[in-house]
Amino acid sequence: MFGKKKEQPQIDTEQLELIQNAQKRIKQKKRLYIHFVLFLIGSVFIILANTVLNIGKDFTLFGKEWFLFAILIWLFFLIYHVFNVFVTHKFMGKAWEKKQLDKLVTQQKIRIEKLKNELKREAPLIAESEHYNESLNKKENTPELTIIVAAAENDAIGKDNKLIWHLSDDLKRFKNLTNGHYIIMGRKTFESFPKPLPNRTHVVITRQSDYQVPEGVIVVNSLEEAINATKSDPQPFIIGGGEIYKQALPLANKIELTRVHENFEADAFFPEIDNSIWKETANTFHTKDDKHEHEFSFLTYERK
Ligand SMILES: NC(=O)c1ccc[n+]([C@@H]2O[C@H](COP(=O)([O-])OP(=O)(O)OC[C@H]3O[C@@H](n4cnc5c(N)ncnc54)[C@H](OP(=O)(O)O)[C@@H]3O)[C@@H](O)[C@H]2O)c1
Repeated sequence: MFGKKKEQPQIDTEQLELIQNAQKRIKQKKRLYIHFVLFLIGSVFIILANTVLNIGKDFTLFGKEWFLFAILIWLFFLIYHVFNVFVTHKFMGKAWEKKQLDKLVTQQKIRIEKLKNELKREAPLIAESEHYNESLNKKENTPELTIIVAAAENDAIGKDNKLIWHLSDDLKRFKNLTNGHYIIMGRKTFESFPKPLPNRTHVVITRQSDYQVPEGVIVVNSLEEAINATKSDPQPFIIGGGEIYKQALPLANKIELTRVHENFEADAFFPEIDNSIWKETANTFHTKDDKHEHEFSFLTYERK
């Protein structure tokens, strides 16, 4: 009633085929071995038949006993047999070769299908990472908006729309750093200059709609507009004054600060630098001398 289920062989067809081939090969070699033993016994028997039993004693070929030719002919067949077994592998004929080839082609097709499926799965991820890299590159290409300022220990930067000190090396540094760049400034700072500075593109921010400026000077009505106007410059500078520094500090990537080591009375100030946002990356101290009435340091800050 509850007859036993016939057990299926647990071995896969590929392995089965390999085993069958190995068995065939063993049989083939066994047959060759038997052939060799028969040849030895047969040869001895033929020699004895001729020499001891005198069979065909009078029969010679080219002056030699007949058994020599009989052994040579047999030897030829034996060598042919050896050749078949070890050189041509005769049982592995054309059909076998075709089967092997078909098997390889099928395996390759399966691999190609697998790769296609993997590619389908990974394509969105690759696209996503390319998009990420692109956005990183874009970030690299973002202009380095830099604030340049000279501020006292109490953050004073100016009084009565004038600078409070004259520091020759600070002016040189300002000139070197901003040379060839766009400089963004408030209307009051612009008016503190006797004339526009050479070799720089001035961008003046004012709320006035009809503010008149010399040729070449760009007038804008907001800080955002000013930054947009400098898009072609990899490092536009914010050069002041107090009102513009305050608005630009959250947008800047870098600060080039000259810290004058004294306190001054002033009406314009630089906002406090938050050390949790900015890290100091350079600091050079400068002593007092004939050209410099005050001690100062050149400091560079970069956004953390
Ligand atoms: N130590 C230094 O490194 C340094 C550097 C630069 C300047 N300074 C000093 O700083 C002082 C000037 O600074 P400050 O704060 O008085 O003036 P400022 O920042 O140079 O200019 C203020 C003016 O900019 C315009 N403005 C500001 N924000 C604006 C906005 N969001 N949209 C449109 N326009 C805007 C307004 O112009 P309108 O009134 O025309 O609308 C405003 O009156 C001077 O003493 C100068 O010498 C010092």
